[in-house]
Amino acid sequence: MNTIKLDDYQIHLGAFGEDLRDYLTKGNYNQVFIIVDEHTRADCLPFLEKQMGSVPYNIIEIQSGEINKTITTCSQIWQKMIEWGGGRRDLTINLGGGVIGDMGGFCACTFKRGMDFIQMPTTLLSQVDASVGGKLGIDFAEIKNSIGLFKNPLAVMVWPEFLKTLSLRELRSGFAEVIKHSLIADATQWSELRQIENMEVAHAVKFLEKSILIKKSIVEADPFESGLRKVLNFGHTIGHALESNALNTDQPLLHGEAIAAGMICESYLSLEKGLLPQDLDQITQFLLKQYGKCEFGTDSYPKLMALMQQDKKNDTTEINFTMLKSPGEALFNQVASEADIIASLEYYRQQ
Ligand SMILES: NC(=O)c1ccc[n+]([C@@H]2O[C@H](COP(=O)([O-])OP(=O)(O)OC[C@H]3O[C@@H](n4cnc5c(N)ncnc54)[C@H](O)[C@@H]3O)[C@@H](O)[C@H]2O)c1
Ligand SMILES: [Zn+2]
Repeated sequence: MNTIKLDDYQIHLGAFGEDLRDYLTKGNYNQVFIIVDEHTRADCLPFLEKQMGSVPYNIIEIQSGEINKTITTCSQIWQKMIEWGGGRRDLTINLGGGVIGDMGGFCACTFKRGMDFIQMPTTLLSQVDASVGGKLGIDFAEIKNSIGLFKNPLAVMVWPEFLKTLSLRELRSGFAEVIKHSLIADATQWSELRQIENMEVAHAVKFLEKSILIKKSIVEADPFESGLRKVLNFGHTIGHALESNALNTDQPLLHGEAIAAGMICESYLSLEKGLLPQDLDQITQFLLKQYGKCEFGTDSYPKLMALMQQDKKNDTTEINFTMLKSPGEALFNQVASEADIIASLEYYRQQ
């Protein structure tokens, strides 16, 4: 068991039963809510139930998927909390991936002006990314994460064994954030993980702690995303556009799959700027080997450009990127022209 300390909460990595029971006892809560979806109820809840000791709890089950990260699902959660006479002296445990973490945290923070909540991330993406940094929220008016707030949890509990029931596709998708963390902040980790041939749970577990530490150090230095935290957007400007573009098609992309393609394109942009003189080919080949290629044609360029313009991370009409100076070193607030961006998409398509 390892404990990672942040300013006002801790991340418990490994067997968390004793710490959990400690929080439950010290908090002297009126009642505990556990939010799950149908998958985490079947695959993760039995383990958590064993850790709860004699503490009673109420289960709130919602339907899985990003499509349900909405105000409608929040209403269902709040409704259950009302039915059970919930209040500020209760605790919510969010047992699930980033959808449950973001939305369950949002519901806990807003119900009767807020109760304590514990994040118990069960996907690789949520363990290394979503559960660190205090961002909570839901999608609204077809805009991802458009309603929400920054609020840290009481604690985060990361149990690596949860990853064993995750599909390989989900695992690989989450691993894109691990790769991103190494490319922006840790050259040694980048050279280690490039040795991976076929992705397995053991690989994810090996890099879990280091990856969480990278995210922690970045969000601690810039909790409200006024500067440095933007380095975490590497691969995400073009990646988000590709993800949105593939939505509602017969080949939708998982977040990490889109980000992998985005990291290739944005590494190309870095080279165009003269920042990444040597490593583009290595980055491209590794990401293509792990993720394959996502298909899009020249006809989607106008839509992709429009999506990038809309991306919330762009303060002006110019498009902002985080670029790589070298593996392990990133620069934020780099701008690229439309022509450069199109060239990067062409580079990707020609692989
Ligand atoms: N708050 C942040 O800083 C932050 C950062 C990155 C992403 N996010 C958000 O995270 C969300 C994506 O999270 P995600 O990738 O974890 O997706 P997700 O929460 O939709 O989970 C993916 C799927 O895996 C299932 N699942 C979860 N854990 C499982 C397990 N252990 N075994 C079997 N199945 C399991 C879920 O039921 C779901 O069907 C997005 O909404 C995104 O906006 C937030
Ligand atoms: Zn991401």
